[in-house]
Amino acid sequence: MLSDAPFFLLDTAEDPIDPVKVFGNDNPLYIEVGSGKGEFISGYPLYHPEWNFIGFEVRGKRISNCLKKLNPEKHPNVRLVERLVDSRIIEILRSESVSGAFIQHPDPWPKKKHHKRRLIQQDFLKSLSQILLPGAFVQVSTDHEEYANWIVDEFLQSPFFQSIYDNPMQEQPILDEHVVTWFEREQLRLGYKPNYMLFRKI
Ligand SMILES: C[S@@+](CC[C@H](N)C(=O)[O-])C[C@H]1O[C@@H](n2cnc3c(N)ncnc32)[C@H](O)[C@@H]1O
Repeated sequence: MLSDAPFFLLDTAEDPIDPVKVFGNDNPLYIEVGSGKGEFISGYPLYHPEWNFIGFEVRGKRISNCLKKLNPEKHPNVRLVERLVDSRIIEILRSESVSGAFIQHPDPWPKKKHHKRRLIQQDFLKSLSQILLPGAFVQVSTDHEEYANWIVDEFLQSPFFQSIYDNPMQEQPILDEHVVTWFEREQLRLGYKPNYMLFRKI
């Protein structure tokens, strides 16, 4: 385990996260689901030192990749949680405590028999809406065409979200400070084109 692990890793086994206790301030809180090798969670928070960030990642190896890109002096506003995110996210983050969520290249689970494993579906969106503040946004990207359509359908069917754009799928990155992640770089190299989506909690 890397030496900065105790600073960055949050234990969510027992208590829900108390951001004021964790960060020592009540700055707006943003989450990333599926931090992968850590490009976004180590890059984007540098543009927003006035915000706090928690990256969730299920795979221990990937958490180690993230930790290698973080240090407490440069990233006092970042923490990581090693666990699977699903509709139980309401057990670890308080109601209406999150200002925005980033979900970049979530696993598409392409086989039909695995679709039930997809992160973005109604029970998760309901829980996500509960932890988000009114007006909070969710940014999603994927280069997987079928999952992109699925994601748009799920968000548009949800009574808790609306698309910010009339055309929910944008071909260009939505954020000014776009961070190209490891997975996005790989897929671009292979010729796939990401779709970017931005939804708002109603
Ligand atoms: C396709 S990779 C993309 C990683 C990163 N976002 C990127 O763009 O490079 C998906 C990542 O999400 C993680 N992941 C998938 N489902 C997850 C879940 N439900 N909760 C937390 N992490 C998850 C995987 O372990 C993997 O690291």
